[in-house]
Amino acid sequence: METATTDRKPLTVGRLQGMKASREVIACLTAYDYSFARLLDEADVDVVLVGDSLGMVVQGRETTLPVTLDEVIYHTRCVSAGTERSLVMADMPFMSYPDPATALTSAGRLIKEGGASMVKLEGAGDQVAIVDALAGAGIPVCAHLGLQPQLIHKIGGYRVQGREDVAAQAMVEDALSLEAAGADLLIVECVPAVLGERLASELRIPVIGIGAGSRCDGQILVLQDMLGITPGRPPRFVRDFMADASSIPDAVAQYVAAVRHGDFPTPAHSF
Ligand code: KIV
Repeated sequence: METATTDRKPLTVGRLQGMKASREVIACLTAYDYSFARLLDEADVDVVLVGDSLGMVVQGRETTLPVTLDEVIYHTRCVSAGTERSLVMADMPFMSYPDPATALTSAGRLIKEGGASMVKLEGAGDQVAIVDALAGAGIPVCAHLGLQPQLIHKIGGYRVQGREDVAAQAMVEDALSLEAAGADLLIVECVPAVLGERLASELRIPVIGIGAGSRCDGQILVLQDMLGITPGRPPRFVRDFMADASSIPDAVAQYVAAVRHGDFPTPAHSF
C-alpha cells in the first residue's frame, strides 16, 4: 500500500482546483469524530465531510432532516481536532440556510465554532443567491446536486436523478449557475455516469461523485458504508472495502488507492 504524503500542510481550495487541472483524482470520505478523522487524515483522504448523514449513521434516524446545526458544529469540532492535512467540509443541515442572512450566520458558526474550511449545501434555484452571499463573504462553498436527501419528502425516495435528457440538461445548467455564483466544489449524487462525466468536463470547479460514475474529478462515500457496517442492503454505488482488508486503516488506504488509480467506482457501482 502507498505511504502517506510527507506534505502535511492543510489542503486548500486552490490545491483541489490544481488536482482537477493535473487530473489527480480527489479522494473524499465522511467522518464524524476525532479518531476516524485522524485515521482518514493519515491515509491522505483529501476532503473529510461532516455530512448530515450523521443523522442516519450516528443517530440512527430515518433521514437527515432532524439533524441540527449545533449537532453538525459539535461533530465538525471533533473532526477538526483530528485533521492536519485533510480539508474539513461541514454540511449545512436542513433549514439552516433558508435565506442568505441565515445562511451566513449558520456557515459562520460552522467555521468559527466547528473549525470547518468549507460548507456544503444542497440544491440550486434559490440556493444560487445563498452561494453568492457565502462566496461574497469569503466562505468556501460546495454545492450538492443530483439526489438531495434534504428533499426526501418531495422526491419520495432515494433514486437516480437526471436520467432523462431534459433533467440532465437542467442539472448541468444548475451546476453552471452555482459555479458562476462562486461555488468552489460540486458533489453530485446518484446520477448516470455519463452525466457525472459531462458535469466534470463542463465545470471548471472539481466535481466529486457519489454514485455518479468513474469520470468525476473525485469520489466520496459515507465512511460506515465503505466499512460495510451500515445495516441493510447497501446502495449499488457502495463497495465494502473491509471485505478484503486486514484492518480499518487498511480498508481506508485501499479506498484511497482505488479512487486515485480509477479502480473505484467500476461500472458495477455506476448507473
Ligand atoms: O451527508 C452526507 O454524508 C453527504 C454525502 C453522501 C455526500 O452529503
